[in-house]
Amino acid sequence: MKVIKLWLVLLFGLSLSVGITQAQNASVSGNNELSIDEKVERLLDKMTLKEKVGQLSLNVGDVINTGPTVNTKPSNKFDDLIRQGRVTGIFNTHGTAYLRRLQKIAVEDSRLKIPLLFGADVIHGFRTVLPIPLAEAASWDMKAVERSSQIAATEATAAGINFNFAPMVDITRDPRWGRIAEGAGEDPYLGSLVAAARVRGFQGDDLTAPNTLAACVKHFAAYGAPHGGREYNTVDMSERMLREIYLPPYKAAVDAGVATMMTSFNELNGIPATGNDFLLNQILRKEWGFQGMVVSDWQSILEMKVHGVGGSDKAVTKMAIEAGTDMDMEANLYRDVLPGLVKNGKVNTEVLDKSVRRVLKLKHKLGLFEDPYKYTNAEREKKDVMSKEHLVGALDIAKRCIVLLKNQNKLLPLKKDIKSLALIGPLAKNKQELNGTWSFFARSNEPVSMLEGIQKKVSKQTKIYVAEGCDFYSDSKAKFAEAINIAKKAEVVVMTLGESAVMNGEAASRTNIGLPGVQLELLKAIHATGKPIVLLLTNGRAMCLSWEDKNIPAILETWTLGTQTGNAIAEVLFGDYNPSGKLPVTFPRNVGQIPIYYNYKHTGRLYKGDYKEHKSRRIYLSKYRDVPNTPLYPFGYGLSYTTFKYGKVMLDKKQMKINETLNLSIQVKNTGKRAGEEVVQLYIRDLIGSVTRPVKELKGFKKIMLKPGESKKVQFQLTKKDFSFYRKDMSFGAEAGQFKIFVGTNSADLKEATFELID
Ligand code: NOJ
Repeated sequence: MKVIKLWLVLLFGLSLSVGITQAQNASVSGNNELSIDEKVERLLDKMTLKEKVGQLSLNVGDVINTGPTVNTKPSNKFDDLIRQGRVTGIFNTHGTAYLRRLQKIAVEDSRLKIPLLFGADVIHGFRTVLPIPLAEAASWDMKAVERSSQIAATEATAAGINFNFAPMVDITRDPRWGRIAEGAGEDPYLGSLVAAARVRGFQGDDLTAPNTLAACVKHFAAYGAPHGGREYNTVDMSERMLREIYLPPYKAAVDAGVATMMTSFNELNGIPATGNDFLLNQILRKEWGFQGMVVSDWQSILEMKVHGVGGSDKAVTKMAIEAGTDMDMEANLYRDVLPGLVKNGKVNTEVLDKSVRRVLKLKHKLGLFEDPYKYTNAEREKKDVMSKEHLVGALDIAKRCIVLLKNQNKLLPLKKDIKSLALIGPLAKNKQELNGTWSFFARSNEPVSMLEGIQKKVSKQTKIYVAEGCDFYSDSKAKFAEAINIAKKAEVVVMTLGESAVMNGEAASRTNIGLPGVQLELLKAIHATGKPIVLLLTNGRAMCLSWEDKNIPAILETWTLGTQTGNAIAEVLFGDYNPSGKLPVTFPRNVGQIPIYYNYKHTGRLYKGDYKEHKSRRIYLSKYRDVPNTPLYPFGYGLSYTTFKYGKVMLDKKQMKINETLNLSIQVKNTGKRAGEEVVQLYIRDLIGSVTRPVKELKGFKKIMLKPGESKKVQFQLTKKDFSFYRKDMSFGAEAGQFKIFVGTNSADLKEATFELID
C-alpha cells in the first residue's frame, strides 16, 4: 500500500513539475531555441522597476540566522514578497518540503514566474560534516578537496539549496582572525589550487545537474587582512601586496568558472569593498572578465554608512550598485531605495539592468527556468543526505588532513593491544564540538567521538579510562584530580585539547591563541605524572604551542574534522593511516610574532645569527630580543611515521630564456619502515629584482606515496608565469637574473640549486 502511495506521490510530483515547466517556458523563456541572453532580454523587457529590484534582493530565511539581526517572524513571512516578485531568493533555510512550497508560489503565483534561488553557507559539508577548510588545505590533496565539496553539494542540493556561499578563499597571515578556519591559510599558490578545486567540486561540469550548485567565492577582497586580526576591521595595504598575495585565489576561482562572488565587510584602503569600484568594476570585471553575479555580504551595503562613507541610504545604495554589487543581501536597500534613485535619474537604468541580467542569467544557468523543482526532491533528500558513501568519503578526507607535529622516540603510532590508555580532556567524549564552526545543518549527536573511534580500534583487553579534566571556558580545576588519577593508572595518556566550535569561524577573533581556559594547566598537571603523553589538538587556526612542543613527546594537529573525527583520529593514532598532512599556515612561537609567514622579505638589516648571541648584545638587526625570528612550526611542515631522504635538485639547464621551460627533478626515498605519503614542495626566490622579492615562494608540490625503501624521481616544470611578479611599474612579468630553486619537505628544510633567467 505504502509503495503505491509513494508512486502516486512521485507521479503527481512529476506531472506537476512538467506542467509548470511547460508553463514556464511559454510564459517566461518563450522559444526554447533562444539563447540564454535572448531569453533574459525578453524577460527583462517585461519587468517593472519593482520586479527588477526584487531580483536583486536576497533575504535570510527563518530557520537559521547568521547575522546580527534576529528573525522572529513566522515562516510564511516571504509568501507575499515572493508573490509580488520582490525577492530573488531566500538563504540559510533548507528542506525540500518548505522550499518547494516557496518555489511554487514564485513560479505559479507571481506575475513573471521567475524561480527563486535558495542560498546557504555550506562551508564544510551539509549534514555529513567534512573537515573545516583549513584542515582540508593541510591535506595538500586537491582530489580530496574536490571530492569533499562534491559531497557537500550533493547533500545541500538534495535538501533544496542551489546557491552556496563558499568557497571562502581569503588569504590570511594572522591566526588571531577566527575565519582563518574557513580558508586555505597563508599562501596564494596553495590557496589558488584549493579555491579552484572547491569550485569544481561544488559546480561540477554542469551547473544544471541536480546535484551541483552555484558556488560563491568570498569575500572580495582582502577580508583576511584585518588590522590586529580583529574581525571586520580595517584593511589597508599596497596594491602590490593586494595583487600578489591576496587576489590570486579569487582569480583562480574566477578562472575555474565560479558562478558568483561575494563582497567583503571590510574597507580596503579607505573604500568599503561593497562599494569599491576599483575592486569590482576594474579588477573583477574589466581585468579578469568575470561574467557572473556579485552579491553583497550581510547588510554590507547598509554598513557602508557606519564605515563613514556616503552618509545616507541613497548614497550607499548608489555606490554599491554602480561599483558592481548586483545583489543586496539583507540590507533591503535595493528593494526600498533603488527604485527611487532610478526614477530620479540618480542611477542609470542601464546600471540596474546589467545587474538584473546577471541574476536572471544565473537562474538560467542553474536550469531553474526549465525545472524550478529539481532541487526539491524529497526522495533524494532522504537517500543522499548523510549517505553511507558520503560517510566513507568523509573519513577518507578527514584522515588526510591530520598533521603530525612531533613524535619523539616514535611514541606514535600506539599499539592496538596497548594494556591501558587514559583519554583526558574536554573533547574526550564530546560530539557536538567536532562539527566545528558553520555547521548548522549538522546534528550535534552524529559525529564519531574520539572515545568511540579509539574504542573501535583497540583490543578487547585494552582498558580505557576517560576523564574530562576541565572545560574550554571556566577556571575550575575541580576535575583535575580525577584526570590525574586515571593518568597514573594508564600506560599512555591521550590528551584531547583545543578550541570549542565557536572559538573560531566568523566573529571569533582571539588575542590569546594558546589553549583556552585552564587546559594548559591541566596538561602540565598530567605531564607532572611522568606518563607518556600524546596531545590531540582540535582547533581552527594556528596556535601558540611553545610549552607543548617543548614538553609533550607526541602532538597531532587534528583541526576540526567533522562527522568522522573519532574514526579518522583513531586510524592515525594506531597507525592504520600514516599521517601525511602539512601545515598551510605558519605556527608562531607567541602572539607577538604575528604576522609571521614563510614568504617574508629580507630587510636591509638581515639577521642570520642565533638567538642566544642575539639576546646578549645590542645588535642593530631586524630581530626580537626575546624570541627568535623563526616560527615554532613553519609553513609546509608535517612529519610522518616514516622518514624521507631528499637527493639533489637537478636542473636541465643552468640558464634559461624567459620563454623556455625549466625542468627539474629530485630523488625522494622512503628511508623508514612504513609506507607513507610525502608532499614534495617546490619554492623559488628571485634574488635581485626591480622591486624586492620574498625569500621563498611556493610554486609547486606533489604528494607521492612511497613504500619502505622505495625511491621516486619527482619532476617539476617552471615557466615564465612562475617567475613573474608585479614589477616596479606594476606590469606583470619576469625579469632576467639569478634565481634560487628549493625543493624539500617544508618551507624551512629545503635542498637548493641556482639558475639564471636570461632575456
Ligand atoms: C556573513 C558572512 O561574512 C558570510 O560569509 C556569509 O555567507 C553571510 N553572513 C551569510 O550567512
